[in-house]
Amino acid sequence: MSFAAVDQYLAEHTAQFEADLCELLRIPSVSADSAFKADVRRAGEWVANQFRQLKFATQLHETPGHPIVTAQSPFVPGAPTVLVYGHYDVQPPDPLGEWITPPFEPTIRGGNLYARGATDDKGQMLTHVKSAEAWVRSGTPLPVNLKYLIEGEEEVGSENLEAFIEQHKKELAADVVVISDTCQFGPGQPAITYGLRGIAYFELRLRGPKQDLHSGTFGGAVTNPANTLAKLVAALKDDQGRIQVPGFYDDVVPLTDRERQEFARLKFQEAEFMKQLGVSALTGEAGYTTLERRWARPTCDVNGLTSGYQGEGAKTVLPAKASAKFSFRLVPNQDPHQIAVSLEQMLRKLCPPGIELELIAFHGAPGVVVPLESPHVSAAARAIEHGFGVAPVYIREGGSIPVVGTFRKLLGIDTLLLGWGLDDDNTHSPNEKFCLADYHRGIKASARLWQEIGSRS
Ligand code: BES
Ligand code: ZN
Repeated sequence: MSFAAVDQYLAEHTAQFEADLCELLRIPSVSADSAFKADVRRAGEWVANQFRQLKFATQLHETPGHPIVTAQSPFVPGAPTVLVYGHYDVQPPDPLGEWITPPFEPTIRGGNLYARGATDDKGQMLTHVKSAEAWVRSGTPLPVNLKYLIEGEEEVGSENLEAFIEQHKKELAADVVVISDTCQFGPGQPAITYGLRGIAYFELRLRGPKQDLHSGTFGGAVTNPANTLAKLVAALKDDQGRIQVPGFYDDVVPLTDRERQEFARLKFQEAEFMKQLGVSALTGEAGYTTLERRWARPTCDVNGLTSGYQGEGAKTVLPAKASAKFSFRLVPNQDPHQIAVSLEQMLRKLCPPGIELELIAFHGAPGVVVPLESPHVSAAARAIEHGFGVAPVYIREGGSIPVVGTFRKLLGIDTLLLGWGLDDDNTHSPNEKFCLADYHRGIKASARLWQEIGSRS
């Protein structure tokens, strides 16, 4: 049996591959919301069953949170080992009213499959399962050892994953990791992503008087937590877009001239980008282009703000408390823990008397870059060209996949970030979608990747 049989299997099973993805998308595996705990497990079980049907050694591991699925193809002596990582959990679907069709009723419109998780990450993750299926079911002996690690907590910070990897180092040992949970550079232009930003996420809680007060009777004499919150949040960045946390830039690895030239060579249309987002201007750190700001410079964004009266009309109240959630995106070498310490010192110094301040640090992960000079990267480039008909470009991206740093740290291996998604897939937003042609091209590229990596040994 030759590789042609694999490609033939793919061509003959497109409808089945789509039906299978829809089945997984119908399971509302929202990891952040405990009301969906049983559904998250059901999605994990569904993934595990895919592997069991291929006769891969499969396990569903309990964690203090959601289960982790592992699977392994029958051992091929002497062949290289690839570890595929993905996640079967999804972000909450709200605001529900903004979906054209319900988030957990997958619907095809204009060649796109709409559902929560379509691209992030159920659709992308499944490409690496279906590609293995094509090898197995076409009776073509796999030229690599495939291992899978599919988790259910990526969207809530992968809290239990690091300990799991630490405890299963031997079972997870591999030559390279493959993850499809990123984006192409644009429609028809696949990419290999060699850098991701890290993250440091915080909640700031401020408390003033013991209860809400009449703002006329007491205003002017009592520190207002909402005013204070506005002041503290405003202090995080100056008007040049530079973050004001002391020492924040100390460890930042600057962009090289070569990298800036490569970014500038990519065909990026600012006007089109603005139209896609519905904004009338782009702003950010002075002295950097939009791609540099998004991919290779750290930043800080407020993710949520709460205080005071939110109802209809005007209410003259001096609120008793105020809170904000905000996160920094980090670049390689910045340490999320050090930033947390420095941030807290800064906020306490700025906080006026009469306010009690609490800073909660949520998940953190360092930024990563992976080397491009590797035979695995060349193998991936050839596989992408086979699947997509176009050679990939090399990009960085602004999102975070915390486990990439963990694989480097605990297993000593690099990751191939092969994104089949698109920037306008509405990840984490209403009307998330995945282009079905990209789903099939991704499966084809993945199937070829096993061949390209295997034939090197
Ligand atoms: N798939 C994304 C990460 C991503 C998005 C990479 C866009 C490249 C481009 C992933 O599922 C995600 O959203 N991760 C979180 C991580 C966080 C919860 C620690 C993120 O980036 O916000
Ligand atoms: Zn994802």
